[in-house]
Amino acid sequence: MKTFARRMAAVIALIMITTSDAGARDFAPDATNLPAYTLPDPLKAADGKAVTTAEGWTKSRRAEVLELFRTHVFGRVPPAAAAAGAVKSEVVGVDPGAIDGTATLKRLKFTATHGGKSLVFTASLFIPNAAPKPVPAFILICNRGATNIDPSRVLRSDFWPAEEILARGYATAAYQVGEIDPDRKDGYAEGVRALFDDGVPAPDAWATLSAWAWGASRILDHLETDPAIAKGKVAVIGHSRGGKTALWAAAQDERFGLACVNESGCGGANLLRRRFEGRESVARINKNFPYWFNANFKRYDNREDDLPVDHHMLSALVAPRWVHVGSAEEDLWADPRGEFLGLVHAAPVYALLGKKGLGAREMPPIGVPLRGDGLAYHIRAGKHNLGLEDWQAYLDTADRAFRP
Ligand code: GCU
Repeated sequence: MKTFARRMAAVIALIMITTSDAGARDFAPDATNLPAYTLPDPLKAADGKAVTTAEGWTKSRRAEVLELFRTHVFGRVPPAAAAAGAVKSEVVGVDPGAIDGTATLKRLKFTATHGGKSLVFTASLFIPNAAPKPVPAFILICNRGATNIDPSRVLRSDFWPAEEILARGYATAAYQVGEIDPDRKDGYAEGVRALFDDGVPAPDAWATLSAWAWGASRILDHLETDPAIAKGKVAVIGHSRGGKTALWAAAQDERFGLACVNESGCGGANLLRRRFEGRESVARINKNFPYWFNANFKRYDNREDDLPVDHHMLSALVAPRWVHVGSAEEDLWADPRGEFLGLVHAAPVYALLGKKGLGAREMPPIGVPLRGDGLAYHIRAGKHNLGLEDWQAYLDTADRAFRP
């Protein structure tokens, strides 16, 4: 029976893959005239055969899709950077009475070493004192200024509402991406890629988003050594360029139990093939942020249809673990409906792995999160930002994922 259901899910996926994805709720100004597009089928292997079993996905097709993203989009981390022991982590400060005695603050220092050189980056980790241990945790990829993740809590930003996260019984760590790889066109020499790359980077070498995602995994390495943190119950969260990074981090690193992908748009959760004026295209992102993606990705400027992947396959790589995508109504640049549809078209992979996925094909109302099994989505009113309403939605999903 189960096999039959899985086969049916795969058949349905094959039928639905060519689409204009027209729907009742769209935010694109010319939504009714969007050209139809054909998405690559996540469940069709490189040899042309349909993937019809969970094993077929986990043992073979998943690795193929991951390779496609490495080769054509984000690039590949060099073996020296991925090797155990490439990074040393230390707790360089502990305050057991942080935030009025409610939390323990640990200051973390990471030293990456290669070829006699090294690079240091830092993170702050808050653990709730009263909650029974071990606790689940959120790692925030911070692409904004360091004032947004102030460990002293003199400055409190809703970008990292540590007090609310702790009150919900979660630990939380945050790091500033610029310490790992500068968010600048001319930042290469100062970042971790220059440290680990031997020679001139290849067209499929890691780019900046991959370096930031690598950083999230190094912080997770450390959290796994802390007995207060529950293994397998760590979420990675990021906003915008940080959201793209969060999804790529969870796609690669199966230890993340949940990816919270806020307003990630192009290169994150949305569908690159959904073309409308006003969204960010591959050509635009490559022009403005060439260092985020590898050199091969430049080949797809104005040629989205030639890419062997689209980003529903990026969310599918996280299956059967949780992905929660968040959009904002006024954030057309990121294409809210395209972000939603990325999850809709990832659902066949979830179905094959025995998860319902989103459980809907139409967008939920503004301000009403939709939670299925493995996939969740919300769209809130307002502009491009990560704030308290988003965090509350992500925390509710984490409760479902980690404390069912
Ligand atoms: C720019 C960029 C987006 C990115 C955003 C951000 O708008 O074009 O791709 O998501 O910055 O990171 O805030």
